[in-house]
Amino acid sequence: MSHIQIFDTTLRDGEQSPGVNLNQLEKVEIARQLERFGVDIMEAGFPASSQGDFESVRAIARTIKNASVTGLARATKSDIDIAWDALKEGHDPRLHIFLATSPIHMTYKLKKSPEEVTQLAINMVSYARKKFPQVEWSAEDASRSDLDFLVKIIEKVIDAGATVINLPDTVGFSTPEEYGRMFQYVKANVPNIDKVILSAHCHDDLGLAVANSLAAIKNGATQVEGTINGIGERAGNAALEEFAVGLTIRNDQFPYTTNLVLKEIKRTSDLVSRFTGMVISPNKAIVGKNAFAHESGIHQDGVLKHASTYEIITPELVGIQSNDLVLGKHSGRHAFKDKIQQLGFEFTEDQLLEAFTSFKQLTDKKKTVTDEDLFTILTDIQTNISDVKKYELQAFQVQYGSANLPTATVALTTPEGIKVETARTGKGSVEALFNTLEALIKEEIHLTNFHLNSIGQGRDALAEANVKMTVNGTPVNGRGSAQDVLEASAKAFLNAVNRLFFNQKVNLKETANL
Ligand code: KIV
Ligand code: ZN
Repeated sequence: MSHIQIFDTTLRDGEQSPGVNLNQLEKVEIARQLERFGVDIMEAGFPASSQGDFESVRAIARTIKNASVTGLARATKSDIDIAWDALKEGHDPRLHIFLATSPIHMTYKLKKSPEEVTQLAINMVSYARKKFPQVEWSAEDASRSDLDFLVKIIEKVIDAGATVINLPDTVGFSTPEEYGRMFQYVKANVPNIDKVILSAHCHDDLGLAVANSLAAIKNGATQVEGTINGIGERAGNAALEEFAVGLTIRNDQFPYTTNLVLKEIKRTSDLVSRFTGMVISPNKAIVGKNAFAHESGIHQDGVLKHASTYEIITPELVGIQSNDLVLGKHSGRHAFKDKIQQLGFEFTEDQLLEAFTSFKQLTDKKKTVTDEDLFTILTDIQTNISDVKKYELQAFQVQYGSANLPTATVALTTPEGIKVETARTGKGSVEALFNTLEALIKEEIHLTNFHLNSIGQGRDALAEANVKMTVNGTPVNGRGSAQDVLEASAKAFLNAVNRLFFNQKVNLKETANL
């Protein structure tokens, strides 16, 4: 069986999804989970695009030991130099450099002739190879490029030192037959093609990203690029969890292996959804809430008689366990520490104490504490904005009744350490709470989105709130979890505001480092 390398771009192409705004702590946490999921390569960002991206890519390169960390660069020396600075401390640094090859892109966007594009690609790949041991070159909009031009430029770029050639379906225009044929053609006509890995990168504008990726591996690609939950530009990228489970379930059609650990799918998907605030639609393949639910009587009857009547994938395969009760009210610190290690977290003694305290508080309120709950507590601690002066919630109270005006009273400490308190009304309890918080916070806030979710199942499940807002004109997301929906909402609101202080601190540090 051939082996397929998995290139995850959740933190680059995925982060380009409209409205997604991850901070450095969240990106590192997602990177750690991608490492547990077993991706071979992770694209941590686009270092030259902003100081925040540079700093995040560098932090991820320093952290990840079991995957190659890469960053995107345009075909310019300064992008390559900045990417090298961000990636050089990684254990297996690689560059991802791209240049468009389709007539539409070359004429209207690049305003360059095919000869100029070829020369630029050669120059930049050979420049990059002086620094990076691995250089992936992407022919942006490959699927709408002239095949003979592609063949010529790929041969030259390989001679210049590229180690991976990626042929993206940038606008999600291809069909599986066409996309597969492009790989076949390139394999048959580029004389030095055996020196490199061929990679597929598909977008989902026509809903064909995973099908196209499967067609690519049938025709010679040995690397597939995609994102968790299929997030990404416009309609998104190929969903890696769908691709991976497709290979496993239809191994008769696709006899390929990967290094992915399928039972990490659920956790990875949940983490990306929580941090990005991109809710997974219930009918989404593999990770949607309904993906394993049988509603009609005929289906339920069939599954009870024999699961395989209507179930082609078991929930356990992707890490969904119905009975993952792990620890209870009487569990001690030792068992707790063991469990944290089993989940793949490395905690300091202080973090361990904080996690254990939160866990004990939860066991007072919630009958069963599941892996999912624990994972939420642990990732919240890992991404907690500390060492920054910020707004902190001291206490709040909300009065609500169908006949009265909802009123909230909130006490906060400001970043300057001053205790402030006030009350406001609203049309509903959440609005009253948000109006009160807004009145206490000096920053200019415009809330643009708010949603609530439950973590796990049951009436005592943890609530998670997500907000999107602009703070002093800068878009930020915020997230908060608690047993009560109002407390989760207040935490999410403050988390969004406090990110501004965190980002300012990181940017100051970055300026000093650059
Ligand atoms: O879709 C695309 O073409 C890209 C390139 C930068 C590889 O994401
Ligand atoms: Zn892309």
